Amino acid sequence: MGFDQYHEPPEELPARTRTFARLCASLTEEAEAIGWYEQRLAVEQDPEALAVMRNAQTEEFKHFAMDLEFLLRRTPVWREIARGVLFQEGDIVEAGEEAEEGAGLGGSGGGGQPGSLGIGSLKGAGL
Ligand SMILES: [Fe+2]
Repeated sequence: MGFDQYHEPPEELPARTRTFARLCASLTEEAEAIGWYEQRLAVEQDPEALAVMRNAQTEEFKHFAMDLEFLLRRTPVWREIARGVLFQEGDIVEAGEEAEEGAGLGGSGGGGQPGSLGIGSLKGAGL
């Protein structure tokens, strides 16, 4: 069992942050599984095996969606940006820039400071 999801000493992290990190790791794993099934489905020739793997991939879609929803509920800024990007028509990048601005973070990474990653502006925003 790995503890790779932590980049700070786990004992120094609040329980809420450890839970958040676990769900981020889980989200990544579900996305990887979706991608792996996509590759397997692209090369498999056996119809029964294809049916089994399609079913399994669908489960991973559900797991990914549940992980994402959990994380969005815990992170209002992320939720607001996601709301402006997910299930929208048109240009994805443009929607992302508009969603970021709508969240008060400015476009292209936010932060409003040249060279900033916008991380400082997220302090206290949900975690
Ligand atoms: Fe899964």
